[in-house]
Amino acid sequence: MPLKRHRLALIGGGHRGIYMALQMLRDPARAELVAVAEPREDRQTDCRRALPTPTERYYRDHLKLLKHAAELSLDAVIVATTVSTHCKIACACMEAGLAIFLEKPMARTIEEAWQIVKVAERTHIPAQVGFNLRYTSFCGELHHNITSGIIGSVVAINWTEAISLRHWTEGYCRNGAYSHSSVIGSWLLEKSCHDMDQFNWLLGKRCERVASFGSRSFFMPRSDVPKRCADKCPVYGNCLFVRVPEATGMSAWLTPEEVEACVYHVHSDLLDHQAVIFEYAGGATVSFTLVPNAPRDTRTMTIYGTEGTISGDLEDNWFSVHSLRTGTETTVRLKKEEGDHGGSDERTALAFLDYLDDPANRPRTGVREGFEAMLLACAADIASREHRVVELEAFRSTD
Ligand SMILES: NC(=O)c1ccc[n+]([C@@H]2O[C@H](COP(=O)([O-])OP(=O)(O)OC[C@H]3O[C@@H](n4cnc5c(N)ncnc54)[C@H](O)[C@@H]3O)[C@@H](O)[C@H]2O)c1
Repeated sequence: MPLKRHRLALIGGGHRGIYMALQMLRDPARAELVAVAEPREDRQTDCRRALPTPTERYYRDHLKLLKHAAELSLDAVIVATTVSTHCKIACACMEAGLAIFLEKPMARTIEEAWQIVKVAERTHIPAQVGFNLRYTSFCGELHHNITSGIIGSVVAINWTEAISLRHWTEGYCRNGAYSHSSVIGSWLLEKSCHDMDQFNWLLGKRCERVASFGSRSFFMPRSDVPKRCADKCPVYGNCLFVRVPEATGMSAWLTPEEVEACVYHVHSDLLDHQAVIFEYAGGATVSFTLVPNAPRDTRTMTIYGTEGTISGDLEDNWFSVHSLRTGTETTVRLKKEEGDHGGSDERTALAFLDYLDDPANRPRTGVREGFEAMLLACAADIASREHRVVELEAFRSTD
């Protein structure tokens, strides 16, 4: 029986904010949305259409909303703005006494993430970071198999995050909101902080040092093509990355100018591929690759233990466990679940409501886990930029 019907506000009424708010509102007995903060008119209209919130409770930013927190009797907020605003919004909400569900990545820089940790730990405010991958059946089962000891101790992980051609071109190249490191930190931080969190979870140890290489080597300005696909581009008929005119999938999120932009001329400074090696306490290593232009979005991995191996494909929802001790190979096939991200978003949202019911119901990812994941991504970026191995311990004690 729920203890209380929690009064929630949404800060950042974009695609993700609306979707996560809807997950939290599935059971009206558990939560109600009483306010939204969103500066864009078009986004406010999207929220009005999608969310059950009275019109007068819309504010133009988080500060205006927070001024009314007491009058609204708010319990908690969903922070689903882009990462560059996470630190100031998360800290302001916690200082106002409100529990937060903070979308990943926790922050854009290590210093900002550390500030969030300090405020959360000083105020003892419940704070969950949106690492929904931990709530997929796939990762849950993988974690269960590894911690059961069936492959002994993990020695090495080989893990690839492959981004499909359209996800890369429409989600990052053409999308102005996600194509610059000044806004999102880096592609690795924005996209793969989920994966860094998985390594930390699966290994259950601290990462000690990081090395990385990456560059933007292919999606660079070309003198032989114009800035827009439609400007009589000479390679139009033969270009893999030509714009999709219909407003489908991620192209529906783009402005008409962005849809038309040539992928070579978007002036994005994001790396277009990156490889990272992590070394954990005790010696286990993870080698990770992030690449675009794959036939489909997926994560594939092989986990090598002292007594066996696990190999799998997250999108296809299966992994095989080979035990050296018994000589057997067992394949675990998981059912496709409804909803975005294989049903994990709903479970992530429910974990937040459970946490609000009782702080003893700690979610799988709080601010410490959020910090560790973003630390790995930021350190990998430093390593690749400065061509050096980056030691992590110094970043954990900054004050
Ligand atoms: N966990 C996941 O699987 C997952 C998936 C997608 C996105 N995300 C994360 O969710 C976050 C949001 O992503 P999105 O794609 O919806 O972004 P978005 O840019 O589409 O939406 C963010 C919204 O926040 C609003 N905003 C900015 N500053 C604000 C302020 N001060 N007060 C109130 N609103 C403000 C913007 O106007 C915008 O509408 C990002 O951190 C992203 O990485 C997580």
